[in-house]
Amino acid sequence: MHGLVSLGCRRNATRMRRSASFGAAMASSLTVCKLRMRGRGLLVKCLERVDTFFQRSITTDVVATQVEALRTHGSDEKDGCKSLSAVQAERQGQAERSVLISCHSRTNEKRFFKYLSSHGDINKYFFYESYGTYAVVEFARQEGVASLLEEAAIPTISHESLVPFKSRLLSLKNLGSVDSANQQAELQTQLQTTIPINELIQRLSREESIDQQVTSLTEAYQLTEENSRLRFLVCSLLKDIAAAYFPKSTIKPFGSSVNGFGKLGCDLDMFLDLDGIRGRKAKMPKSGLFLEYQLKRANSERAVTQSILSVIGECVEQFVPGCVGVQKILNARCPLVRFAHQPSGFQCDLTANNRVAMKSTELLYLYGKLDPRVRFLVFTVRCWARVHGITSSIPGAWITNFSLTVMVLFFLQRRTPPIIPTLDHLRDLAGPEDMSVIEGNDCTFVSDFSKIQLQSNTDSLEQLLCEFFEFYSTFAFNKMSINIRKGKEQNKPEVTPLYIQNPFEISLNISKNVNATQLDRFVALCQESSWLLQQSENRTPRNGKGGKTPKPWGLASLLLPSQVVGMKSSKKRRREPASERIKILLESLKNNNQPKKS
Ligand code: GTP
Ligand code: MG
Repeated sequence: MHGLVSLGCRRNATRMRRSASFGAAMASSLTVCKLRMRGRGLLVKCLERVDTFFQRSITTDVVATQVEALRTHGSDEKDGCKSLSAVQAERQGQAERSVLISCHSRTNEKRFFKYLSSHGDINKYFFYESYGTYAVVEFARQEGVASLLEEAAIPTISHESLVPFKSRLLSLKNLGSVDSANQQAELQTQLQTTIPINELIQRLSREESIDQQVTSLTEAYQLTEENSRLRFLVCSLLKDIAAAYFPKSTIKPFGSSVNGFGKLGCDLDMFLDLDGIRGRKAKMPKSGLFLEYQLKRANSERAVTQSILSVIGECVEQFVPGCVGVQKILNARCPLVRFAHQPSGFQCDLTANNRVAMKSTELLYLYGKLDPRVRFLVFTVRCWARVHGITSSIPGAWITNFSLTVMVLFFLQRRTPPIIPTLDHLRDLAGPEDMSVIEGNDCTFVSDFSKIQLQSNTDSLEQLLCEFFEFYSTFAFNKMSINIRKGKEQNKPEVTPLYIQNPFEISLNISKNVNATQLDRFVALCQESSWLLQQSENRTPRNGKGGKTPKPWGLASLLLPSQVVGMKSSKKRRREPASERIKILLESLKNNNQPKKS
Protein backbone atom coordinates (compact mmCIF):
# COMPACT_ATOMS: atom_id res chain seq x y z
CA MET A 1 0.00 0.00 0.00
CA HIS A 2 1.38 3.40 -0.96
CA GLY A 3 2.66 5.55 1.89
CA LEU A 4 2.40 2.80 4.44
CA VAL A 5 5.12 1.88 6.86
CA SER A 6 5.23 -1.78 7.79
CA LEU A 7 5.21 -2.23 11.51
CA GLY A 8 7.84 -4.54 12.88
CA CYS A 9 9.74 -4.01 16.07
CA ARG A 10 13.01 -3.58 14.25
CA ARG A 11 11.61 -1.16 11.71
CA ASN A 12 9.94 0.78 14.42
CA ALA A 13 13.26 1.06 16.20
CA THR A 14 14.94 2.16 12.96
CA ARG A 15 12.32 4.82 12.51
CA MET A 16 13.05 6.05 16.01
CA ARG A 17 16.75 6.19 15.31
CA ARG A 18 16.18 8.19 12.13
CA SER A 19 14.27 10.89 13.86
CA ALA A 20 16.50 13.16 15.92
CA SER A 21 14.05 13.65 18.72
CA PHE A 22 13.22 10.01 19.02
CA GLY A 23 16.91 9.18 18.89
CA ALA A 24 17.44 11.45 21.86
CA ALA A 25 14.47 9.86 23.55
CA MET A 26 15.86 6.41 23.08
CA ALA A 27 19.29 7.41 24.34
CA SER A 28 17.96 9.02 27.43
CA SER A 29 15.55 6.20 28.04
CA LEU A 30 18.55 3.89 28.20
CA THR A 31 20.10 6.28 30.69
CA VAL A 32 17.03 6.00 32.82
CA CYS A 33 17.27 2.28 32.52
CA LYS A 34 20.66 2.14 34.20
CA LEU A 35 19.36 0.50 37.27
CA ARG A 36 20.73 -0.22 40.61
CA MET A 37 19.61 -3.77 40.26
CA ARG A 38 22.18 -6.47 40.38
CA GLY A 39 22.11 -9.97 39.12
CA ARG A 40 24.65 -12.70 38.89
CA GLY A 41 22.82 -15.29 36.82
CA LEU A 42 25.86 -16.02 34.65
CA LEU A 43 28.22 -16.10 37.57
CA VAL A 44 25.97 -18.43 39.47
CA LYS A 45 25.66 -20.77 36.49
CA CYS A 46 29.43 -21.28 36.69
CA LEU A 47 29.15 -22.45 40.25
CA GLU A 48 27.59 -25.84 40.42
CA ARG A 49 26.80 -25.84 44.09
CA VAL A 50 26.38 -23.27 46.74
CA ASP A 51 29.11 -24.72 48.95
CA THR A 52 31.66 -24.65 46.13
CA PHE A 53 30.86 -20.96 45.93
CA PHE A 54 32.35 -20.55 49.39
CA GLN A 55 35.14 -23.11 48.89
CA ARG A 56 36.47 -21.25 45.91
CA SER A 57 36.68 -18.24 48.25
CA ILE A 58 35.42 -15.81 45.70
CA THR A 59 35.70 -12.55 47.55
CA THR A 60 32.61 -10.47 47.83
CA ASP A 61 34.46 -7.73 45.93
CA VAL A 62 34.72 -10.02 42.95
CA VAL A 63 31.06 -10.86 43.35
CA ALA A 64 30.24 -7.18 43.58
CA THR A 65 32.18 -6.36 40.42
CA GLN A 66 30.55 -9.14 38.50
CA VAL A 67 27.07 -8.42 39.68
CA GLU A 68 27.62 -4.77 38.82
CA ALA A 69 28.47 -5.84 35.28
CA LEU A 70 25.17 -7.67 35.06
CA ARG A 71 22.95 -4.71 35.64
CA THR A 72 19.72 -5.13 33.78
CA HIS A 73 18.06 -2.65 31.49
CA GLY A 74 14.62 -1.15 31.87
CA SER A 75 11.41 -2.95 31.18
CA ASP A 76 10.59 -1.03 28.05
CA GLU A 77 13.73 -2.00 26.28
CA LYS A 78 13.50 -5.54 27.57
CA ASP A 79 9.85 -6.06 26.82
CA GLY A 80 10.31 -4.78 23.26
CA CYS A 81 7.37 -5.73 21.10
CA LYS A 82 6.12 -8.67 23.16
CA SER A 83 2.40 -9.04 23.59
CA LEU A 84 1.02 -8.03 26.95
CA SER A 85 0.17 -11.62 27.83
CA ALA A 86 3.76 -12.70 27.10
CA VAL A 87 5.09 -9.90 29.30
CA GLN A 88 2.63 -10.84 32.04
CA ALA A 89 3.60 -14.52 31.91
CA GLU A 90 7.31 -13.73 32.16
CA ARG A 91 6.85 -11.26 34.99
CA GLN A 92 4.55 -13.61 36.89
CA GLY A 93 7.24 -16.29 36.69
CA GLN A 94 9.83 -13.90 38.11
CA ALA A 95 7.45 -12.83 40.86
CA GLU A 96 6.72 -16.44 41.88
CA ARG A 97 10.43 -16.96 42.48
CA SER A 98 10.84 -13.75 44.46
CA VAL A 99 10.70 -12.79 48.12
CA LEU A 100 10.28 -9.40 49.77
CA ILE A 101 12.57 -8.73 52.74
CA SER A 102 12.45 -5.83 55.15
CA CYS A 103 15.98 -4.92 56.21
CA HIS A 104 18.03 -2.27 57.94
CA SER A 105 19.19 0.59 55.74
CA ARG A 106 22.77 -0.19 56.82
CA THR A 107 22.68 -3.88 56.06
CA ASN A 108 25.96 -5.32 54.83
CA GLU A 109 25.00 -5.95 51.22
CA LYS A 110 27.67 -8.51 50.43
CA ARG A 111 26.90 -10.56 53.52
CA PHE A 112 23.20 -10.35 52.74
CA PHE A 113 23.82 -11.55 49.22
CA LYS A 114 26.05 -14.42 50.35
CA TYR A 115 23.55 -15.53 52.94
CA LEU A 116 20.68 -15.61 50.45
CA SER A 117 22.81 -17.34 47.83
CA SER A 118 23.29 -20.22 50.23
CA HIS A 119 19.64 -21.07 49.51
CA GLY A 120 19.95 -21.04 45.75
CA ASP A 121 21.13 -19.08 42.75
CA ILE A 122 19.89 -15.52 42.62
CA ASN A 123 18.85 -13.96 39.34
CA LYS A 124 18.32 -10.39 40.51
CA TYR A 125 17.99 -8.31 43.61
CA PHE A 126 17.52 -4.66 44.46
CA PHE A 127 16.77 -2.45 47.43
CA TYR A 128 14.13 0.24 47.66
CA GLU A 129 12.75 2.68 50.16
CA SER A 130 9.10 2.77 51.21
CA TYR A 131 8.29 3.29 54.88
CA GLY A 132 11.58 1.50 55.55
CA THR A 133 14.14 -0.34 53.48
CA TYR A 134 13.18 -3.46 51.55
CA ALA A 135 14.89 -5.90 49.22
CA VAL A 136 13.30 -7.79 46.35
CA VAL A 137 15.23 -10.99 45.68
CA GLU A 138 14.50 -13.17 42.68
CA PHE A 139 15.84 -16.71 42.84
CA ALA A 140 16.70 -18.62 39.69
CA ARG A 141 14.52 -21.51 40.80
CA GLN A 142 11.51 -22.09 43.02
CA GLU A 143 13.62 -24.31 45.30
CA GLY A 144 15.59 -21.25 46.40
CA VAL A 145 12.43 -19.69 47.81
CA ALA A 146 11.35 -22.96 49.41
CA SER A 147 14.73 -23.41 51.10
CA LEU A 148 14.71 -19.83 52.41
CA LEU A 149 11.18 -20.18 53.80
CA GLU A 150 12.07 -23.53 55.35
CA GLU A 151 14.83 -21.91 57.35
CA ALA A 152 12.97 -18.70 58.31
CA ALA A 153 12.04 -18.53 61.98
CA ILE A 154 8.75 -17.59 63.64
CA PRO A 155 9.31 -14.40 65.67
CA THR A 156 9.10 -14.64 69.43
CA ILE A 157 7.08 -11.91 71.05
CA SER A 158 5.91 -11.90 74.60
CA HIS A 159 2.82 -9.71 74.92
CA GLU A 160 0.93 -10.35 71.68
CA SER A 161 -0.14 -13.33 69.68
CA LEU A 162 0.65 -14.02 66.04
CA VAL A 163 -1.44 -15.19 63.11
CA PRO A 164 0.58 -18.15 61.83
CA PHE A 165 0.25 -17.25 58.13
CA LYS A 166 3.68 -17.65 56.54
CA SER A 167 4.16 -15.57 53.42
CA ARG A 168 7.07 -14.47 51.25
CA LEU A 169 7.28 -11.18 53.17
CA LEU A 170 10.17 -11.59 55.61
CA SER A 171 12.35 -9.53 57.95
CA LEU A 172 16.13 -9.74 58.04
CA LYS A 173 17.53 -10.01 61.55
CA ASN A 174 21.19 -9.72 62.49
CA LEU A 175 22.47 -11.38 65.65
CA GLY A 176 26.15 -10.77 64.83
CA SER A 177 28.08 -7.89 66.35
CA VAL A 178 31.00 -7.82 63.89
CA ASP A 179 29.31 -5.77 61.21
CA SER A 180 26.70 -4.19 63.39
CA ALA A 181 24.30 -2.13 61.37
CA ASN A 182 25.58 1.33 62.21
CA GLN A 183 29.10 0.57 60.95
CA GLN A 184 27.86 -0.05 57.43
CA ALA A 185 27.35 2.44 54.65
CA GLU A 186 23.75 3.15 53.70
CA LEU A 187 22.43 0.80 51.03
CA GLN A 188 21.84 2.18 47.56
CA THR A 189 18.08 2.28 47.42
CA GLN A 190 15.47 3.45 44.98
CA LEU A 191 12.62 5.78 45.62
CA GLN A 192 9.34 4.50 44.24
CA THR A 193 7.78 7.93 43.71
CA THR A 194 8.09 10.66 41.12
CA ILE A 195 10.10 13.84 41.53
CA PRO A 196 8.15 16.84 42.90
CA ILE A 197 6.48 19.02 40.28
CA ASN A 198 8.72 22.06 40.90
CA GLU A 199 11.78 19.90 40.31
CA LEU A 200 10.22 18.56 37.11
CA ILE A 201 9.53 22.12 35.89
CA GLN A 202 13.18 23.04 36.51
CA ARG A 203 14.38 19.93 34.74
CA LEU A 204 12.20 20.61 31.70
CA SER A 205 13.28 24.26 31.58
CA ARG A 206 16.85 23.10 31.05
CA GLU A 207 15.96 21.06 27.95
CA GLU A 208 16.62 22.45 24.51
CA SER A 209 13.43 21.70 22.64
CA ILE A 210 9.80 20.95 23.38
CA ASP A 211 10.30 17.48 21.92
CA GLN A 212 13.05 16.87 24.49
CA GLN A 213 10.85 18.25 27.26
CA VAL A 214 8.15 15.74 26.39
CA THR A 215 10.56 12.78 26.38
CA SER A 216 12.23 14.00 29.57
CA LEU A 217 8.89 14.20 31.36
CA THR A 218 8.05 10.65 30.30
CA GLU A 219 11.39 9.37 31.53
CA ALA A 220 10.98 11.07 34.87
CA TYR A 221 7.48 9.69 35.41
CA GLN A 222 7.31 6.23 33.85
CA LEU A 223 7.45 3.07 35.93
CA THR A 224 10.93 1.69 36.42
CA GLU A 225 11.94 -1.92 35.93
CA GLU A 226 12.03 -2.37 39.71
CA ASN A 227 8.64 -0.80 40.25
CA SER A 228 7.12 -3.12 37.64
CA ARG A 229 8.69 -6.14 39.31
CA LEU A 230 7.39 -5.02 42.68
CA ARG A 231 3.85 -4.70 41.28
CA PHE A 232 3.93 -8.28 40.01
CA LEU A 233 5.42 -9.46 43.30
CA VAL A 234 2.56 -7.90 45.30
CA CYS A 235 0.07 -9.67 43.00
CA SER A 236 1.94 -12.91 43.51
CA LEU A 237 1.92 -12.52 47.32
CA LEU A 238 -1.83 -12.01 47.23
CA LYS A 239 -2.30 -14.94 44.91
CA ASP A 240 -0.92 -17.14 47.67
CA ILE A 241 -4.00 -16.28 49.74
CA ALA A 242 -6.48 -16.74 46.88
CA ALA A 243 -4.80 -20.05 45.99
CA ALA A 244 -5.72 -21.43 49.40
CA TYR A 245 -9.31 -21.55 48.10
CA PHE A 246 -8.78 -21.64 44.35
CA PRO A 247 -5.47 -23.40 43.70
CA LYS A 248 -5.31 -22.61 39.98
CA SER A 249 -6.26 -18.95 40.25
CA THR A 250 -3.89 -16.12 39.37
CA ILE A 251 -3.85 -12.45 40.28
CA LYS A 252 -2.86 -10.22 37.37
CA PRO A 253 -2.15 -6.51 37.36
CA PHE A 254 -4.10 -4.44 34.84
CA GLY A 255 -4.63 -0.74 34.12
CA SER A 256 -1.71 1.65 34.23
CA SER A 257 0.56 -0.80 36.10
CA VAL A 258 0.94 -2.70 32.83
CA ASN A 259 -0.59 -0.71 29.95
CA GLY A 260 2.60 1.33 29.40
CA PHE A 261 1.11 4.59 30.70
CA GLY A 262 1.73 4.05 34.43
CA LYS A 263 3.36 6.78 36.44
CA LEU A 264 5.45 6.00 39.53
CA GLY A 265 3.04 6.01 42.44
CA CYS A 266 -0.05 5.01 40.43
CA ASP A 267 -2.47 2.57 42.04
CA LEU A 268 -2.16 -1.18 41.57
CA ASP A 269 -5.26 -2.57 39.86
CA MET A 270 -5.47 -6.33 40.26
CA PHE A 271 -7.71 -8.91 38.75
CA LEU A 272 -8.39 -12.28 40.35
CA ASP A 273 -8.49 -14.60 37.36
CA LEU A 274 -10.48 -17.77 38.01
CA ASP A 275 -10.80 -18.69 34.35
CA GLY A 276 -8.10 -21.31 34.71
CA ILE A 277 -10.61 -23.13 36.92
CA ARG A 278 -14.09 -22.39 35.65
CA GLY A 279 -13.37 -21.50 32.03
CA ARG A 280 -12.00 -24.89 31.14
CA LYS A 281 -14.66 -27.00 29.53
CA ALA A 282 -13.91 -30.68 29.98
CA LYS A 283 -14.61 -32.75 26.92
CA MET A 284 -17.96 -34.44 27.31
CA PRO A 285 -17.99 -38.04 26.16
CA LYS A 286 -20.69 -38.83 23.62
CA SER A 287 -21.78 -41.82 25.68
CA GLY A 288 -20.78 -43.74 28.78
CA LEU A 289 -19.91 -42.58 32.27
CA PHE A 290 -18.26 -39.36 33.30
CA LEU A 291 -17.88 -37.28 36.45
CA GLU A 292 -18.60 -33.65 37.09
CA TYR A 293 -17.86 -31.45 40.08
CA GLN A 294 -20.58 -30.59 42.53
CA LEU A 295 -20.49 -26.83 42.83
CA LYS A 296 -22.43 -24.45 45.01
CA ARG A 297 -24.99 -22.35 43.11
CA ALA A 298 -25.57 -18.62 43.38
CA ASN A 299 -28.17 -16.24 41.97
CA SER A 300 -25.89 -14.48 39.52
CA GLU A 301 -22.32 -14.09 38.34
CA ARG A 302 -22.21 -10.83 40.26
CA ALA A 303 -23.23 -12.61 43.49
CA VAL A 304 -20.42 -15.14 42.99
CA THR A 305 -17.89 -12.34 42.45
CA GLN A 306 -19.14 -10.53 45.54
CA SER A 307 -18.89 -13.58 47.76
CA ILE A 308 -15.39 -14.50 46.53
CA LEU A 309 -14.13 -10.96 47.01
CA SER A 310 -15.76 -10.74 50.40
CA VAL A 311 -13.94 -13.87 51.66
CA ILE A 312 -10.62 -12.92 50.12
CA GLY A 313 -10.96 -9.37 51.45
CA GLU A 314 -11.53 -10.81 54.91
CA CYS A 315 -8.41 -12.99 54.62
CA VAL A 316 -6.34 -10.07 53.40
CA GLU A 317 -7.47 -8.05 56.39
CA GLN A 318 -7.06 -10.79 58.98
CA PHE A 319 -4.04 -12.76 57.79
CA VAL A 320 -1.84 -10.98 55.27
CA PRO A 321 1.01 -9.01 56.86
CA GLY A 322 1.52 -5.50 55.47
CA CYS A 323 -2.06 -5.06 54.16
CA VAL A 324 -3.94 -2.31 56.00
CA GLY A 325 -7.09 -0.23 55.63
CA VAL A 326 -9.04 -2.98 53.87
CA GLN A 327 -12.36 -1.77 52.43
CA LYS A 328 -14.79 -4.14 50.74
CA ILE A 329 -16.65 -2.12 48.11
CA LEU A 330 -18.89 -4.91 46.92
CA ASN A 331 -21.89 -2.92 45.72
CA ALA A 332 -19.94 -0.90 43.15
CA ARG A 333 -20.66 -1.51 39.44
CA CYS A 334 -17.44 -3.46 39.51
CA PRO A 335 -17.12 -4.94 43.05
CA LEU A 336 -13.66 -4.54 44.56
CA VAL A 337 -11.53 -4.83 47.68
CA ARG A 338 -9.34 -1.77 48.32
CA PHE A 339 -6.38 -1.71 50.69
CA ALA A 340 -2.90 -0.32 51.17
CA HIS A 341 0.08 -2.63 50.88
CA GLN A 342 2.54 -0.97 53.22
CA PRO A 343 5.80 -2.71 52.27
CA SER A 344 5.43 -1.59 48.65
CA GLY A 345 3.54 1.62 49.32
CA PHE A 346 0.91 0.66 46.71
CA GLN A 347 -2.76 1.51 46.94
CA CYS A 348 -4.38 -1.69 45.72
CA ASP A 349 -7.75 -2.41 44.09
CA LEU A 350 -8.57 -6.09 43.79
CA THR A 351 -11.38 -7.04 41.42
CA ALA A 352 -12.61 -10.33 40.02
CA ASN A 353 -14.49 -11.17 36.86
CA ASN A 354 -13.30 -7.97 35.20
CA ARG A 355 -12.19 -9.29 31.86
CA VAL A 356 -13.33 -6.28 29.81
CA ALA A 357 -10.94 -4.04 31.79
CA MET A 358 -8.19 -6.53 31.03
CA LYS A 359 -9.02 -6.18 27.33
CA SER A 360 -8.93 -2.36 27.50
CA THR A 361 -5.55 -2.68 29.18
CA GLU A 362 -4.32 -4.85 26.31
CA LEU A 363 -5.66 -2.38 23.78
CA LEU A 364 -3.97 0.60 25.41
CA TYR A 365 -0.75 -1.39 25.67
CA LEU A 366 -0.92 -2.20 21.96
CA TYR A 367 -1.54 1.43 20.96
CA GLY A 368 1.38 2.51 23.16
CA LYS A 369 3.68 0.04 21.42
CA LEU A 370 2.62 0.99 17.89
CA ASP A 371 4.30 4.37 17.88
CA PRO A 372 6.51 5.91 20.60
CA ARG A 373 4.70 9.25 20.22
CA VAL A 374 1.59 7.69 21.74
CA ARG A 375 3.24 7.12 25.14
CA PHE A 376 5.04 10.46 25.09
CA LEU A 377 1.85 12.35 24.43
CA VAL A 378 -0.23 10.37 26.92
CA PHE A 379 2.33 10.89 29.70
CA THR A 380 2.52 14.59 28.98
CA VAL A 381 -1.22 15.14 28.82
CA ARG A 382 -1.82 13.03 31.96
CA CYS A 383 0.82 15.01 33.87
CA TRP A 384 -0.55 18.34 32.62
CA ALA A 385 -4.09 17.31 33.61
CA ARG A 386 -3.04 16.18 37.09
CA VAL A 387 -1.12 19.39 37.79
CA HIS A 388 -4.17 21.48 36.89
CA GLY A 389 -6.61 19.34 38.86
CA ILE A 390 -8.37 18.08 35.71
CA THR A 391 -7.86 14.55 37.01
CA SER A 392 -7.82 13.54 40.65
CA SER A 393 -7.07 10.52 42.81
CA ILE A 394 -10.46 11.01 44.49
CA PRO A 395 -13.49 9.69 42.59
CA GLY A 396 -15.87 12.45 41.44
CA ALA A 397 -16.94 14.50 38.43
CA TRP A 398 -13.37 14.71 37.13
CA ILE A 399 -12.09 13.30 33.86
CA THR A 400 -10.27 10.02 34.61
CA ASN A 401 -6.85 9.08 33.32
CA PHE A 402 -8.49 6.32 31.30
CA SER A 403 -10.83 8.80 29.56
CA LEU A 404 -7.97 11.21 28.98
CA THR A 405 -5.90 8.45 27.39
CA VAL A 406 -8.76 7.59 25.06
CA MET A 407 -9.00 11.30 24.14
CA VAL A 408 -5.31 11.30 23.19
CA LEU A 409 -5.75 8.13 21.13
CA PHE A 410 -8.72 9.65 19.34
CA PHE A 411 -6.72 12.80 18.55
CA LEU A 412 -3.91 10.65 17.10
CA GLN A 413 -6.43 8.77 14.94
CA ARG A 414 -7.67 12.13 13.62
CA ARG A 415 -4.26 13.28 12.36
CA THR A 416 -3.63 13.39 8.63
CA PRO A 417 -2.41 10.79 7.97
CA PRO A 418 -3.52 9.02 11.16
CA ILE A 419 -0.76 8.01 13.57
CA ILE A 420 -2.68 5.02 14.92
CA PRO A 421 -5.44 2.89 13.37
CA THR A 422 -9.04 2.68 14.50
CA LEU A 423 -10.23 -0.15 16.74
CA ASP A 424 -12.46 -1.36 13.90
CA HIS A 425 -9.36 -1.71 11.73
CA LEU A 426 -7.58 -3.66 14.48
CA ARG A 427 -10.65 -5.86 14.66
CA ASP A 428 -10.55 -6.51 10.91
CA LEU A 429 -6.94 -7.66 11.19
CA ALA A 430 -7.72 -10.18 13.95
CA GLY A 431 -7.22 -13.88 13.36
CA PRO A 432 -9.28 -16.76 14.82
CA GLU A 433 -6.95 -16.90 17.84
CA ASP A 434 -7.86 -13.30 18.69
CA MET A 435 -11.63 -13.86 18.87
CA SER A 436 -12.98 -12.66 22.17
CA VAL A 437 -16.56 -12.09 23.24
CA ILE A 438 -17.03 -11.10 26.87
CA GLU A 439 -20.55 -10.91 28.27
CA GLY A 440 -21.88 -10.40 24.76
CA ASN A 441 -19.38 -7.63 23.92
CA ASP A 442 -17.10 -8.05 20.96
CA CYS A 443 -13.60 -7.51 22.35
CA THR A 444 -11.75 -8.91 19.35
CA PHE A 445 -8.70 -7.13 17.97
CA VAL A 446 -5.42 -8.24 16.46
CA SER A 447 -2.70 -9.27 18.89
CA ASP A 448 0.10 -9.80 16.39
CA PHE A 449 1.79 -6.40 16.00
CA SER A 450 3.45 -7.39 12.75
CA LYS A 451 0.07 -7.53 10.96
CA ILE A 452 -0.49 -3.81 11.57
CA GLN A 453 0.69 -1.35 8.97
CA LEU A 454 1.06 2.25 9.99
CA GLN A 455 0.79 5.25 7.74
CA SER A 456 3.85 7.43 7.54
CA ASN A 457 3.19 10.47 9.64
CA THR A 458 6.16 12.63 10.63
CA ASP A 459 4.51 15.05 13.07
CA SER A 460 6.90 16.15 15.82
CA LEU A 461 5.99 15.89 19.48
CA GLU A 462 5.88 19.69 19.71
CA GLN A 463 3.41 19.84 16.86
CA LEU A 464 1.27 17.09 18.33
CA LEU A 465 1.19 18.64 21.78
CA CYS A 466 0.26 22.03 20.41
CA GLU A 467 -2.42 20.61 18.16
CA PHE A 468 -3.84 18.34 20.85
CA PHE A 469 -4.73 21.45 22.83
CA GLU A 470 -6.00 23.19 19.71
CA PHE A 471 -8.12 20.15 18.79
CA TYR A 472 -9.91 19.97 22.13
CA SER A 473 -10.18 23.78 22.43
CA THR A 474 -12.59 23.72 19.53
CA PHE A 475 -14.11 20.22 19.71
CA ALA A 476 -17.92 20.27 19.45
CA PHE A 477 -18.51 18.56 22.79
CA ASN A 478 -22.15 19.71 22.76
CA LYS A 479 -23.05 17.57 19.73
CA MET A 480 -20.35 15.01 19.20
CA SER A 481 -18.96 11.98 20.98
CA ILE A 482 -15.44 10.57 20.92
CA ASN A 483 -15.21 7.14 19.38
CA ILE A 484 -11.90 5.30 18.93
CA ARG A 485 -13.64 2.32 17.38
CA LYS A 486 -14.60 4.39 14.34
CA GLY A 487 -11.82 6.97 14.70
CA LYS A 488 -14.41 9.65 13.95
CA GLU A 489 -16.63 11.83 16.09
CA GLN A 490 -20.22 10.58 16.14
CA ASN A 491 -23.47 12.25 17.12
CA LYS A 492 -23.93 12.01 20.87
CA PRO A 493 -26.50 9.36 21.75
CA GLU A 494 -27.49 11.13 24.97
CA VAL A 495 -27.32 14.53 26.62
CA THR A 496 -24.28 14.57 28.83
CA PRO A 497 -21.39 17.07 28.86
CA LEU A 498 -18.71 14.63 27.71
CA TYR A 499 -19.42 11.44 25.80
CA ILE A 500 -16.56 9.01 25.17
CA GLN A 501 -17.76 5.68 23.90
CA ASN A 502 -16.52 2.69 25.87
CA PRO A 503 -14.35 0.85 23.31
CA PHE A 504 -15.80 -2.58 24.13
CA GLU A 505 -19.09 -2.03 25.92
CA ILE A 506 -20.21 0.26 23.15
CA SER A 507 -23.50 1.34 24.68
CA LEU A 508 -21.62 2.86 27.64
CA ASN A 509 -20.00 6.25 28.12
CA ILE A 510 -16.70 6.05 30.03
CA SER A 511 -16.94 9.72 31.01
CA LYS A 512 -20.52 9.71 32.24
CA ASN A 513 -19.34 11.07 35.58
CA VAL A 514 -17.90 14.28 34.11
CA ASN A 515 -19.99 17.40 34.76
CA ALA A 516 -20.16 20.61 32.72
CA THR A 517 -17.90 22.52 35.15
CA GLN A 518 -15.10 20.00 34.78
CA LEU A 519 -15.45 19.93 31.00
CA ASP A 520 -15.38 23.75 30.94
CA ARG A 521 -12.16 23.74 32.94
CA PHE A 522 -10.61 21.21 30.59
CA VAL A 523 -11.52 23.26 27.52
CA ALA A 524 -10.35 26.53 29.07
CA LEU A 525 -7.02 24.95 30.02
CA CYS A 526 -6.63 23.54 26.50
CA GLN A 527 -7.19 27.04 25.11
CA GLU A 528 -4.70 28.56 27.47
CA SER A 529 -2.06 25.89 26.80
CA SER A 530 -2.57 26.09 23.06
CA TRP A 531 -2.16 29.86 23.22
CA LEU A 532 0.97 29.61 25.39
CA LEU A 533 2.59 27.17 22.98
CA GLN A 534 1.91 29.50 20.06
CA GLN A 535 3.87 32.38 21.59
CA SER A 536 7.22 32.48 19.81
CA GLU A 537 9.12 33.61 22.94
CA ASN A 538 7.76 30.57 24.77
CA ARG A 539 8.95 28.06 22.19
CA THR A 540 12.68 28.31 22.85
CA PRO A 541 14.75 28.05 26.06
CA ARG A 542 14.96 31.17 28.22
CA ASN A 543 18.41 30.94 29.71
CA GLY A 544 18.82 32.06 33.30
CA LYS A 545 21.52 34.68 33.79
CA GLY A 546 24.69 33.84 35.73
CA GLY A 547 24.07 30.09 35.84
CA LYS A 548 20.63 30.55 37.39
CA THR A 549 17.89 28.06 36.62
CA PRO A 550 16.35 28.95 33.26
CA LYS A 551 12.88 30.45 33.30
CA PRO A 552 10.11 27.95 32.60
CA TRP A 553 9.34 27.80 28.89
CA GLY A 554 7.52 25.48 26.48
CA LEU A 555 6.02 22.48 28.23
CA ALA A 556 7.40 23.65 31.61
CA SER A 557 5.32 26.82 31.35
CA LEU A 558 2.18 24.72 30.83
CA LEU A 559 2.73 23.10 34.20
CA LEU A 560 2.72 26.43 36.07
CA PRO A 561 -0.53 27.47 37.74
CA SER A 562 -3.11 28.54 35.20
CA GLN A 563 -3.83 32.24 34.82
CA VAL A 564 -7.28 31.55 33.45
CA VAL A 565 -8.70 28.69 35.43
CA GLY A 566 -8.82 28.83 39.21
CA MET A 567 -7.24 25.82 40.79
CA LYS A 568 -7.07 24.56 44.30
CA SER A 569 -3.55 23.20 44.15
CA SER A 570 -2.14 26.65 43.33
CA LYS A 571 -2.06 27.39 47.04
CA LYS A 572 0.58 24.78 47.56
CA ARG A 573 2.89 26.05 44.86
CA ARG A 574 4.75 29.26 44.24
CA ARG A 575 2.77 31.30 41.77
CA GLU A 576 4.82 32.61 38.89
CA PRO A 577 3.56 36.08 37.95
CA ALA A 578 2.52 36.21 34.32
CA SER A 579 3.31 39.37 32.42
CA GLU A 580 0.47 41.85 32.11
CA ARG A 581 0.41 41.26 28.39
CA ILE A 582 -0.15 37.54 28.86
CA LYS A 583 -2.88 38.20 31.37
CA ILE A 584 -4.71 40.55 29.05
CA LEU A 585 -4.41 38.19 26.12
CA LEU A 586 -5.66 35.29 28.17
CA GLU A 587 -8.61 37.31 29.40
CA SER A 588 -9.57 38.19 25.84
CA LEU A 589 -9.15 34.56 24.86
CA LYS A 590 -11.41 33.52 27.67
CA ASN A 591 -14.12 36.03 26.76
CA ASN A 592 -14.07 35.75 23.00
CA ASN A 593 -13.39 32.11 22.41
CA GLN A 594 -16.00 30.34 24.46
CA PRO A 595 -16.06 26.58 23.77
CA LYS A 596 -18.72 25.27 21.46
CA LYS A 597 -20.77 23.40 23.98
CA SER A 598 -24.04 23.58 25.71
P1 GTP B 1 -4.43 5.45 36.89
O1 GTP B 1 -4.74 4.42 37.92
O2 GTP B 1 -5.19 6.70 37.09
O3 GTP B 1 -2.98 5.67 36.68
O4 GTP B 1 -4.95 4.91 35.46
P2 GTP B 1 -5.64 3.53 35.10
O5 GTP B 1 -5.62 3.43 33.60
O6 GTP B 1 -5.05 2.41 35.87
O7 GTP B 1 -7.13 3.79 35.53
P3 GTP B 1 -8.00 3.12 36.65
O8 GTP B 1 -7.17 2.67 37.80
O9 GTP B 1 -9.11 4.09 36.92
O10 GTP B 1 -8.65 1.89 35.91
C1 GTP B 1 -7.94 0.72 35.63
C2 GTP B 1 -8.34 0.17 34.30
O11 GTP B 1 -9.72 -0.15 34.32
C3 GTP B 1 -8.17 1.13 33.11
O12 GTP B 1 -6.88 1.14 32.56
C4 GTP B 1 -9.19 0.58 32.14
O13 GTP B 1 -8.64 -0.54 31.49
C5 GTP B 1 -10.29 0.14 33.06
N1 GTP B 1 -11.27 1.22 33.23
C6 GTP B 1 -11.20 2.29 34.03
N2 GTP B 1 -12.30 3.05 33.92
C7 GTP B 1 -13.09 2.42 33.05
C8 GTP B 1 -14.38 2.70 32.52
O14 GTP B 1 -15.03 3.69 32.82
N3 GTP B 1 -14.85 1.79 31.65
C9 GTP B 1 -14.15 0.69 31.29
N4 GTP B 1 -14.66 -0.16 30.42
N5 GTP B 1 -12.96 0.40 31.76
C10 GTP B 1 -12.43 1.26 32.62
MG1 MG C 1 -5.10 2.37 37.99
